[in-house]
Amino acid sequence: MQRKTGSSDHITRAYLDSLLLEVRHLDSVMPDTGMDLFGCHFDTPVMTAALSHLHNTRENGMAEFARGAALANAVCFSGMGPEKELEGMIDTGAKVVKIIKTYQDRDSIYRKIRHAENYGALAVGMDIDHAFSHNGYDCIEGMEMRPLSTEELKDFVNSTKLPFVIKGVLSVQDALKCKEAGVKGIVVSHHNGRLQYALPPLMVLPEIMQAVGNSMEVFVDCSLESGIDVYKCLALGAKACCIGRPLMKKLGEKGAEGVREGIEAITKDLRYTMAMTCAKDLKSIDPTVMRMGSFTW
Ligand SMILES: Cc1cc2nc3c(=O)[nH]c(=O)nc-3n(C[C@H](O)[C@H](O)[C@H](O)COP(=O)(O)O)c2cc1C
Repeated sequence: MQRKTGSSDHITRAYLDSLLLEVRHLDSVMPDTGMDLFGCHFDTPVMTAALSHLHNTRENGMAEFARGAALANAVCFSGMGPEKELEGMIDTGAKVVKIIKTYQDRDSIYRKIRHAENYGALAVGMDIDHAFSHNGYDCIEGMEMRPLSTEELKDFVNSTKLPFVIKGVLSVQDALKCKEAGVKGIVVSHHNGRLQYALPPLMVLPEIMQAVGNSMEVFVDCSLESGIDVYKCLALGAKACCIGRPLMKKLGEKGAEGVREGIEAITKDLRYTMAMTCAKDLKSIDPTVMRMGSFTW
């Protein structure tokens, strides 16, 4: 990755690379990478990130992306996009977490939540970090955004039977507000650097874990590329991780099959790292294997 002053992607990568692992061999076994989430079983804690506009990468890109996740028996997040697109993703058999933007038109958010529930999404939620741009309120494809209040969030959460997931949490303050609102999962993320000098998600993850305990599932994304990266997130308390751009590249190269291969390769790397550190399953990953090396960016 090319260095750019203040680039949160670069800082996040440098932080991930500063975390080093002990090795533990005695009593190790072949690890199980399986994970239960929201009532379903998955083969891996490696999930696809909430991407969108993948028709620019490959024909029928969102559905192909979802099919790749389904082939790997992995959770598939979906970002913004029309209802038909979500239907195409769910039709592949993928278990989809639909992430909706904070549109100024709040009714459209309720409609999208209802649609996701009726069409059989695994969970639904919102990315709270796209309300502003340097020019004022953010506007995507002609749709204006507005920030979300905790009170509004409670209403959205209470409007659905689906588990509600908030993406874009990067502080204990927001994590606690999500907890108060009844959110069932958060993605600790800076959304590939929407703010320069944003904290690396793993720098704030331990504080968030301490604040929310096991009241919700905690996921991580941003600049994760390998099974070792995923392992580091799990060691600090995350349940699972989302991978975006690296899987997008695989989608471009080989479609759904590439996405499956990408997820499986990261999962194998995770399994190897678990085996080399005596973790028999995801819950057994021990945070004391990790040490901080030097961190500069
Ligand atoms: C092409 C593209 C489209 C994205 N669309 C969305 C979106 O609609 N909603 C969302 O919450 N995040 C969206 N994201 C952000 C990703 O979910 C993720 O947070 C980010 O890419 C960091 O993960 P990565 O470093 O693994 O790519 C998008 C990212 C990319 C690259």
